[in-house]
Amino acid sequence: MDKFKIIGKSRIAGEVTISGSKNAALPLLAAMLLPNGETVLHNVPTLKDTETLVKLIGGMGVRIKKEANTVIADARTVTNYYAPYELVRTMRASILVLGPLLARFGEAEVSLPGGCSIGSRPVDQHLKALEAMGADIIVENGYVKAKALKGGKLIGCDFTFDMVTVGGTENTIMAAALASGTTRLENCACEPEVVDLANMLVAMGAKIDGIGTPTMIIEGVDSLHGCEYSVIADRIETGSYLAGALMSCGDVLTKNTTTGFLQPVLKKMQAMGAVITAGDDWIRAVMKSRPKAVDIRTQVHPGFPTDMQAQLMAVCCLAEGVSTITENIFENRFMHVPELQRMGASIKVDGHTAVITGVDSFSPAPVMATDLRASMSLVMAAACADGESMIDRIYHIDRGYENVENKLRGLGVNIERIKA
Ligand code: UD1
Repeated sequence: MDKFKIIGKSRIAGEVTISGSKNAALPLLAAMLLPNGETVLHNVPTLKDTETLVKLIGGMGVRIKKEANTVIADARTVTNYYAPYELVRTMRASILVLGPLLARFGEAEVSLPGGCSIGSRPVDQHLKALEAMGADIIVENGYVKAKALKGGKLIGCDFTFDMVTVGGTENTIMAAALASGTTRLENCACEPEVVDLANMLVAMGAKIDGIGTPTMIIEGVDSLHGCEYSVIADRIETGSYLAGALMSCGDVLTKNTTTGFLQPVLKKMQAMGAVITAGDDWIRAVMKSRPKAVDIRTQVHPGFPTDMQAQLMAVCCLAEGVSTITENIFENRFMHVPELQRMGASIKVDGHTAVITGVDSFSPAPVMATDLRASMSLVMAAACADGESMIDRIYHIDRGYENVENKLRGLGVNIERIKA
């Protein structure tokens, strides 16, 4: 397994160009199964996870190629509706092919994603919504086997999600786009990535009202056509690099991004003392002093995103005073805490809340990346520690941050990949 060797202490400063959003790209790639024609998707980040999804739908017979950051796919050639365990187990978002397959071909067999490092993460809401649309679903030998009963078509229905789920909303709107009749969904996720998917479906000819609100109404159409579309900027990558400025009295300018999606994070950064300025497609964070302590509670959009929790915790570790972070979305998303403690952080966890007493600096240490976003908190902490740190299991970071070493080097971080 590759490792990162990072030698601090660095002031994180400079310009960085933000990639397309991983969490938006994955459902958009799954949606390429839907149209009767060719779809061209730009600004797709080159990552392990996007590679997995391209492989997955390629295995179903979709003619697909990726050239630089553009994916071109033609789903007129699909030959099977099968998503094998070997691919699904490496990425939970593979479950997003279930809705499109079922809606377009009337059947699907998709491996059930297992648990993952940030909790059990069931998919019961995905299945419940598809059942409400007339799918017959059985879970057998680790696979979800689904069939649309009424002549191979899903049927529009009224459905309320028991909880707000990003993936559940995405799977269901893709299915509803090709169902017969109207689907009314309540308690939908309003995350920007869900909005991006809905917008691409509309570009394919889908009829969707209420995009970006908890109530979405989708009038099914007989078929969708190909389109040309571009993935939105990655709000989490943007926030991660800006966090580096806060931790190191730095100055980071993120380009090719947008403030719209990031307001709750930028507000916390301002409360910590950062000077945030922004234009149409850039955001800059300048930090002139030690950060101030804050209280953060993760929530569904437009609340503070759980995917920025670990990175802001690393900032709180160096803040003046006592901060609290309450994780409300995932049950087990504090695995980075023991690793940050190894680097000298003072953190106590009580249930879903971490209480963080700021220390003057991190100390270098060998640490282990525990999940995708947590890895970035450790990388930033290592960059701010005076000496050499080794970060193991960086395959997590490769799943979600495009070109990460080069971008960090551009911001003044002394980082080297040690190949396994
Ligand atoms: C997506 C993001 C992930 C982000 C998360 C929350 C992608 C590829 N991943 O994950 O980075 O952290 O949204 O913003 O876009 N739940 C159920 N049953 C379900 C579905 C979800 O109980 O059927 C629970 C989950 O266990 C979790 C919560 O609901 O506790 C939110 O999960 P969800 O919004 O579905 O997250 P993902 O779509 O998996």
